[in-house]
Amino acid sequence: MKILAVRGNPRKTGVCQRLGDLFIEGAREAGADVWDVDLSSLDIAPCMGCFSCSAGDKGTCVLKDDMEGLRKKLSTADALLCISPVYFYAMSAQMKIFWDRCFPFIRGYDFDSAKERVVNETNFEVKNKKFVTISVASGRLKGSFEAMSHTYGVISDAMGFEYIADIRRGESPYFGILGERAVRVRKILEAYKEAGLQLASMGRISPQVVSTAELQLTESDEAFAANSKIFWQLHRNKKIPQEISDCVRYDPRILLDEMCRNFIPSRAPEKASIKFVFTDKNISRAIVIDSRKCKVCDFHGVADLTVITDSKSWCDMMAERRDVLKMISQKRIILEGDKRLFAGMKRFFGIGMA
Ligand SMILES: Cc1cc2nc3c(=O)[nH]c(=O)nc-3n(C[C@H](O)[C@H](O)[C@H](O)COP(=O)(O)O)c2cc1C
Repeated sequence: MKILAVRGNPRKTGVCQRLGDLFIEGAREAGADVWDVDLSSLDIAPCMGCFSCSAGDKGTCVLKDDMEGLRKKLSTADALLCISPVYFYAMSAQMKIFWDRCFPFIRGYDFDSAKERVVNETNFEVKNKKFVTISVASGRLKGSFEAMSHTYGVISDAMGFEYIADIRRGESPYFGILGERAVRVRKILEAYKEAGLQLASMGRISPQVVSTAELQLTESDEAFAANSKIFWQLHRNKKIPQEISDCVRYDPRILLDEMCRNFIPSRAPEKASIKFVFTDKNISRAIVIDSRKCKVCDFHGVADLTVITDSKSWCDMMAERRDVLKMISQKRIILEGDKRLFAGMKRFFGIGMA
């Protein structure tokens, strides 16, 4: 299968880039021939709306730039993958220019009696191609993607494509916040590779893979807004993206919140209190388990277990980057109270701890 992968993300260190890489990696592993195209590194001028391309059967654009080669590639591809961030509820400007410059493929209108409505006619080459879109937004599902999904839907219809999957990845800052230590993030990333593999090997992508790729990282709008506040608050004081990313990644509030989200009640004790003292941040918070429910709160009494650590060590521990026993012997993690509870945490918080 020949796949034309068109990337509309200007940022090369962001989530679109990562997800696009994984999709393409999966497709290549399944034997696809992928043309990986980065729109922002090409010379593609915006459409001038001159309608010169409407003349004749094939349609020729008066603008002579990199779009000529891209249209040829699209004509011979079996599938088109479009990756774009959501910018103001729409596709990026780079992606929009790409679509406007696909206008030479459109040959007017026809009445489709099966669909009982007017549809666009296209040059025969672009018909019956498989179409996949990956859109990335910082907001949660629902609202952030409505306009973009609608636009892609009508573009697909106009081009006569077979729309295989509209994959919408919300909560993008969480990829930076959680890093790849979180089980859910790893699962999501694997789904993008699997999606590429399935497209190339079967010509379709299963609904399960799409729903894993879209899996929400926060359980409610309230939780999302609370963590976003931390992100923006840290953002205000830091200028360098890596600094923001580190700052957010090691934030104790987010680390403990993540543990609670991964909580597996059936493996947990009925009741327990675990206090965390983050010495580097001067923050003390506890995770309290009661009737197999778990929450993060302030805790002033003596907990069943007290963990004295620093946020970087705890983050490393959750990411399985360090040997826990060594960290204890180096006093990067100090335990007071019921140490068996600490041993059980890997099971009921579903976190690292090699
Ligand atoms: C100009 C601009 C407009 C944006 N508009 C939206 C928006 O309407 N909705 C949303 O959820 N996120 C919006 N975002 C956030 C991006 O979609 C988000 O940061 C995404 O991860 C960007 O992709 P990247 O990580 O590949 O750079 C916007 C970002 C920028 C820079």
